[in-house]
Amino acid sequence: MATSSLDTTLQHPDFLTEEQLEVREAAREFTQKELLPGVIERDKHEKFPTEQVKKMGELGFMGMMVSPKYGGAGMDTLSYVLAIEEISKVDASASVCMSVNNSLVCWGLETFGSEEQKQKYLTPLAKGEKIGAFCLSEPEAGSDATSQHTRAEDKGDYYLLNGTKNWITNGNNASTYLVIAQTYPDKKHKGINALIVEKGMEGFVVGKKEEKLGIRGSDTHSLMFTDVKVPKANRIGDDGFGFNFAMNTLNGGRIGIAAQALGIAAGAYELALKYAKERKTFGKPIAEHQAIAFKLAEMATKIEAARLMVYKAARLKDAGADFALSASMAKLYASQVANEVATEAVQIHGGYGYVREFHVERLMRDAKITQIYEGTSEIQKIVISRGILK
Ligand code: CAA
Repeated sequence: MATSSLDTTLQHPDFLTEEQLEVREAAREFTQKELLPGVIERDKHEKFPTEQVKKMGELGFMGMMVSPKYGGAGMDTLSYVLAIEEISKVDASASVCMSVNNSLVCWGLETFGSEEQKQKYLTPLAKGEKIGAFCLSEPEAGSDATSQHTRAEDKGDYYLLNGTKNWITNGNNASTYLVIAQTYPDKKHKGINALIVEKGMEGFVVGKKEEKLGIRGSDTHSLMFTDVKVPKANRIGDDGFGFNFAMNTLNGGRIGIAAQALGIAAGAYELALKYAKERKTFGKPIAEHQAIAFKLAEMATKIEAARLMVYKAARLKDAGADFALSASMAKLYASQVANEVATEAVQIHGGYGYVREFHVERLMRDAKITQIYEGTSEIQKIVISRGILK
């Protein structure tokens, strides 16, 4: 694939460190060698990238920001963003598995979990030996996340968990599930808890797999809990901390999805640029027709703006600053850019863009979900407007 012209700028030390550039290169190499060859078939047959995710674990991509003490790579958020961006240029199904494991599950456990939980659950997740899932959405509680119907009844030394979760990424391939559930309904969101549930616990069943428009290699399932006894030791944080846990974890998750959207846009753009230089009409490459050259100019400009926003959110998080607003802005904008750029990439390819072989139709289908999961664009606007108006 062609590289973007911005790559040259990114070599400047003010942009990225040597180590960050190396991480990006490693992710790029892995993507070209391991993900690109089978990505069309996996999308077509809705096949989870099992072997590829295993290798991602071995390379340290599944627990990038986790301390080496717990089996992680101990890197910063910007390095993580660079890796997600590269992987998403080719395989957004692999990158969402990685994003959920890193920024929702591992980050949540390392930041808010007990020492015992970190030893027992975080370490195998960070090493990529196990996969995690984050379970907040329900059939009747998506954007309106405070309206949790799943119940975690306090039974002394355990919680009795009952309810259904929907749209769960890594739903079947995960072993460790962070489940958000209501313990004290009268306390509303302040009565919610976050519990670690293991696959195999009695009463926990993985439900149907969703057939999706995009990210078809990612396994999205509903989950059913019927009288599941979850030990009190598996509660993350204080009693009633669960909603706060989910919101804080999602702030970081939104940087991961923004990076995924950026990668989808960049991948589609790079393919369109290459095609436009090769494909000839009316005696010259289509890139030399102003209609196409202007499209490419707009695509490159939007990607550059999205990239700066995503990297800024990551840098704020790395600096220990409040990054929630920047994360929401980055996700809102990058996901919009992903959809616009991928659609234009299909247009530039003409009929070839509409068939599987040329990759851009998949990127266009994959782009849509970035405006929906980990908070729809409308939810990001709620977060942003509340942030700027308070
Ligand atoms: N960061 C930190 N705290 C936040 C927050 C944020 N971004 N947004 C809200 N909160 C806190 C508030 O401060 C408040 O806490 P206090 O009462 O202690 O002050 C509490 O959460 C409730 O907030 P509100 O009173 O504003 O509640 P609301 O109902 O009006 O709005 C919401 C809440 C922001 C809309 C929230 O429900 C939300 O973010 N919804 C979207 C949920 C979402 O992103 N789901 C994605 C599913 S996970 C997924 O997709 C994973 C996957 O598999 C890929």
